[in-house]
Amino acid sequence: MKVLVTGASGNVGRYVTENLLKMGERVVTAGTNTQKLIDLFQDKVDPVYFDFTKKKTFKNALENVDRVFLIRPPHLGKPEDLYPFIDAMKDYNIKLVSFLSLMGIEKNTIPPHHKIEKYIESSQIPFAHVRPGFFMQNVSGVHSTEIREMNKIFIPAGNSKTSFIDAEDIGLSVATLLRNPEIYKNTAHTITGAEALDYFQVAEILSRVTGRKIEYAKPGFLKYRRHYIKKRGLEKAFVNVTVALYFMTRMGTAKDVTDDFIKLTGKKPRTFEEFAIANIDSFQ
Ligand SMILES: NC(=O)c1ccc[n+]([C@@H]2O[C@H](COP(=O)([O-])OP(=O)(O)OC[C@H]3O[C@@H](n4cnc5c(N)ncnc54)[C@H](OP(=O)(O)O)[C@@H]3O)[C@@H](O)[C@H]2O)c1
Repeated sequence: MKVLVTGASGNVGRYVTENLLKMGERVVTAGTNTQKLIDLFQDKVDPVYFDFTKKKTFKNALENVDRVFLIRPPHLGKPEDLYPFIDAMKDYNIKLVSFLSLMGIEKNTIPPHHKIEKYIESSQIPFAHVRPGFFMQNVSGVHSTEIREMNKIFIPAGNSKTSFIDAEDIGLSVATLLRNPEIYKNTAHTITGAEALDYFQVAEILSRVTGRKIEYAKPGFLKYRRHYIKKRGLEKAFVNVTVALYFMTRMGTAKDVTDDFIKLTGKKPRTFEEFAIANIDSFQ
């Protein structure tokens, strides 16, 4: 039987896929852009057209599958958007669904991940929730423009700390869970890096790695919002979600450090410095 990876072209899904393939699993990769999946994995996977909002695409994705990596695409804001697919999984003999959730979600009912976790649990499908901290890829992705063009980290996180994790490490964690459904059924794992850094420290690391002086601009929420909507042209709804996340970060919700990654994989998580060196092209 195969493993279905939703969001397979995304930050985490691509590494879930790569790690499952290394472990010798057969993988069905799913998304609305199958060409992206072919470009990424060539003939190593079975790409399927799949859309959470289109029920008729579920059957193709779930055929000959007994484990599932489930993500909530960021633009699907309502937990209910994922319920039809979770219901559909009940008709297949799924041994484990690993849902990409959020650190601290067990105590935070506001993000959609909270209700999605509960819905999966009530479906009786064996589950292994993965609750990661902030991805390092946020810095090398959406926030890298300001680093490259202004030598500034333009993030409204105040003086707070974040236990950044590399999406590649999350991918390895998820693949480990899906490879061992009996061992990990009905569990939850909070995956973080080994250290919590504030953005002044992130700026120091990036300065060291790039050889340029990079500063943490420490903008307020209004300045941040204006910049990303007006100058960068990002969608208002997306920017508002990030404002809420950085507000929570300021409240200290992103700083906990766990050893769940080491327990699962036997490896140390990548440090931010190692990540910055490996992804230096994103910063210059
Ligand atoms: N960023 C963080 O720091 C962080 C931390 C903790 C948790 N999370 C959670 O991680 C999740 C996002 O994961 P990610 O960053 O790996 O994803 P991502 O890079 O944003 O990619 C989204 C994926 O979803 C697919 N997709 C988009 N619309 C779809 C649809 N209608 N039906 C099916 N697939 C669709 C996309 O592929 P196509 O284009 O082919 O459709 C793509 O592969 C979110 O739920 C977020 O809350 C993020």
